[in-house]
Parts: sequence; structure tokens; C-alpha cells
Amino acid sequence: MKNIKFLVYLIFLVWLLSNHLSCISAKSHKHRKLQKAISFSQERAAISSNSLNVLNYGAKGDGIADDTNAFEAAWAEACKVSGSVVTVPSGSVFLVKPISFSGANCQPNLVFQLDGKIIAPKSSGAWGLQWLDFTKLQGITIRGNGIIDGQGSVWWNDYLDTNPTYESEAEADGGSPDWENAEAKGQMPSTKPTALRFYGSTDVTVTGITIQNSPQTHLKFDDCNGVQVFGISISSPGNSPNTDGIHLQNSKDVVIHTTSLACGDDCISIQTGCSGIYVHNVNCGPGHGISIGGLGKDGTRACVSNVTVRDSTIQNTLNGVRIKTWQGGSGSVQGVMFSNIQVSEVENPIVIDQYYCDGSHHCPNKTSAVAISGVSYQSIKGTYTSNPVRFACSDSTPCSGITLSTIDLNPSSQAKNDNPFCWEAFGELQTATTPTISCLRTGGPSRKHINNNGGSC
Ligand SMILES: *[C@@H]1O[C@H](CO)[C@@H](O)[C@H](O)[C@H]1NC(C)=O
Ligand SMILES: *[C@@H]1O[C@H](CO)[C@@H](O)[C@H](O)[C@H]1NC(C)=O
Repeated sequence: MKNIKFLVYLIFLVWLLSNHLSCISAKSHKHRKLQKAISFSQERAAISSNSLNVLNYGAKGDGIADDTNAFEAAWAEACKVSGSVVTVPSGSVFLVKPISFSGANCQPNLVFQLDGKIIAPKSSGAWGLQWLDFTKLQGITIRGNGIIDGQGSVWWNDYLDTNPTYESEAEADGGSPDWENAEAKGQMPSTKPTALRFYGSTDVTVTGITIQNSPQTHLKFDDCNGVQVFGISISSPGNSPNTDGIHLQNSKDVVIHTTSLACGDDCISIQTGCSGIYVHNVNCGPGHGISIGGLGKDGTRACVSNVTVRDSTIQNTLNGVRIKTWQGGSGSVQGVMFSNIQVSEVENPIVIDQYYCDGSHHCPNKTSAVAISGVSYQSIKGTYTSNPVRFACSDSTPCSGITLSTIDLNPSSQAKNDNPFCWEAFGELQTATTPTISCLRTGGPSRKHINNNGGSC
């Protein structure tokens, strides 16, 4: 009896133990399963955001080694998966040669997370028109707080050495400026590259970064649709030749805001084929101001419409807000508003120049011009050092529909000329102005002016 009791007890004990054990094992199995699930979902997350650090593709990031191949390799991987992020980490400097981030066969919505610094080689070599070139992408974002440095001084010095009388008005507007002498004397190629260009792309965003010391234009958009630029900084010395800040060409629906632009040429240059351009809360200077044009060079046809620049400051620049066209072009500039612009020590705050000529060219008067109409200036205030208002419109195609309100421009102590200048400029003053603008003609140009300028855009 006692033995049986003991046996039952033993069986009970074994049952209890085995139960307990299986429970433990089940628990740990469950735990392992959970962990596996977590790590799997982490993997999946990593895959779906497909983050590619250039350091993992062989980049040295020491500012000396050539990291071009690493950038190309990371890009090639990113390109395969929609939403991929190429990471350029902070704390490193990457020397990168001219490189094309082509998107022709890429998935959409790629991101370049730039927190480190990218520098251009200072040596001559296989330079083209661009240094960092993004093309044919659908959805491309460059973001972060990194720096793109074009190390442009080697190019500028070449140029300045051979052009001692350079007055920084030669243009980068699609023409081929006369750099040949620079090449003969210096080491760099005759054509200076743009630092960062986007071509043929849609939904482009550039935010956070700094672009500095470009050999020529800092940031260019050509043939792009839907561009957002905000919270960036562009910087090169005021005497660096042809260093436009942002250059727009054949691009539509572009917003640029909360951005600071200091350079040696136009802070923002708006060229042919642009419409729906909205610039606000930018700071420009030094530089040549915010410009539409030069348009119509070599008899070309140019079309620009729907441009707004507002709530911005411009200081220590050659011009404030300017529209410039060459003699002999065709097409039109229509629907432009400059509103709430504060200028300070600007040579010529308000300019329309239809006799634009860059000095290195011979520019005889022609019988056609890009027509300018519907340009409004509202609340342009501050100080000038040369000429407050200058409207030099074409004999064949006068400017029409120029409206001005709340203009308050005062000479700084060194101002040369207080008298607003108008030639063939038609429009109206909606308020009294300082200085008094009595040269604007009311009504519209006479019929004889309706010329053969190539019709509508
Ligand atoms: C002008 O451009 C803005 C974007 O900058 C756009 O919202 C607006 O619809 C355009 N207007 C016309 C008349 O094209
Ligand atoms: C071109 O036309 C303008 C306006 O009529 C005139 O002031 C200027 O002298 C002309 N320039 C030349 C080179 O003929």
C-alpha cells in the first residue's frame, strides 16, 4: 500500500515536472518566434527604405581618395528600389569627380541624404558641363545638412588672371562665354561646370544643404517639372565670376523659399521656358540680384510667364529685380509680380533692360525683341547707390502694363542718379512713389508697335 502511494506520488511528480518543462520550452519557443518576427520586420523595414551608405560601397571619406566609384555603386543599388536612400554621412569629406546620377532606368522617389561634405577635384581632367548631375528622375530629394563644395577658386583665378578688367557682367545664359584665354593661361578647361544640376526630372526637392564655391552656377534646373527648394544656403564670394546662385530653364511649377543666396552673379536667374515660378522669403546678396533673362540672345525665341518674387531682401547687389532681353529676339515675358522687396545698398533696384549686351558681344539694335507685358512692382523699398528705376524698353516692342505701387527708394549717400529713366515704357502708377516716376507713359503702345515678334508663346 505504501509502495503504491509512493508510486502515485512519483507519477504525479513526473507529470508535474514534465508539464512544467514543456511549458518552459513552449514559452521559449514563443519567445524565439517573436524575436524572429521582430528582426524580420526590421529587416523588411531596412529593405523597404533601402538605405545605402556610401562608406559601405568603398568610399574613404578622407577628402583625398577618389570616392566617385563608391557613389556610383551606391546609386546603382538605390536605383533598383523605389524610395531608396543614398546616405552620405556626416564627419567625412568625399572627393567626387564629375558624376551622372542617371535616373532613366531608376525606380521613383529616390533620396540623397547628404550630411557629410562633398568636394570637387581641383585638378583638370574629364570635366563636362556639370559636376553633380541628376537626370531623368521621377521624384528625387536631396536633403540633410551637408555641404557641396565646388572648390571654384582654381577656376575663378584662371579667369580673373586673364581678364583683369572683368566687371562681372559676362553671362552664363546658355551662350559660350569667352573663356578660351583663361584656358590658354590656366590649367582648367575653358567651360566651367555647374555644381549641381537636375535635368528632365519631375518632383525635385532640394532642402537643408549648403552649396558653395561653384566654378560657375551653383544649382541648376533644366527641363524640370515641380521643383521645391527651401532651407538651403548658397555661398560664393561676391567677386567670383559667373557664379549664379540658382538657374532655372525650361522648368515649370518651381517654388524657392527660405533660402539665402550669396554669389558673384545672379542670385536667381530665370531663363526661357519657365512658368509658374514662385520665390519668397529669400535673401540675396552679394550678387547681381534676381533676374529674368537675358532672353532672346542670337535671335532666339523666349517665353517666360507667371513669375512671382515676394517677401524677400536684397542687399549690396548690382541689381534688385531685373528683366533683361537682347535685341533681336522674339517671344514674351508675361505676368510678373515683384512684391514686398526690401533693398539695401543696391545699385539699381528696379530694371528692365531690352538692350542687354554683356560687353564681350557686339549688340546692334534690331527690329524685334522679346515682348514684355504685365509686370507689377508692389512695395519695393530701401536704398540704392546708382539709379532707382530704369525701364529701357525696345523701340519695336515697347513694354506694356507696367504697374507700380508703394515704391519708396532712397539714395544712400553715394547715389549717382536719382532720376528714374524710362524709354518706351507704358503702364501706370497706382500710388505716389519715391522718387517721383514721371517718365512712365500711360495707356498702351500705338498700333504701329504691334510687330512681327513671332506671335504668342
Ligand atoms: C502661377 O504659378 C503658381 C505656382 O507658382 C500656380 O499656383 C498658379 O496656378 C499659376 N497661375 C497661372 C495663371 O498659371
Ligand atoms: C539702340 O536704340 C536705342 C533706343 O532707341 C538708342 O538709345 C541706342 O543708341 C541705339 N543703339 C545703337 C547701337 O544704335
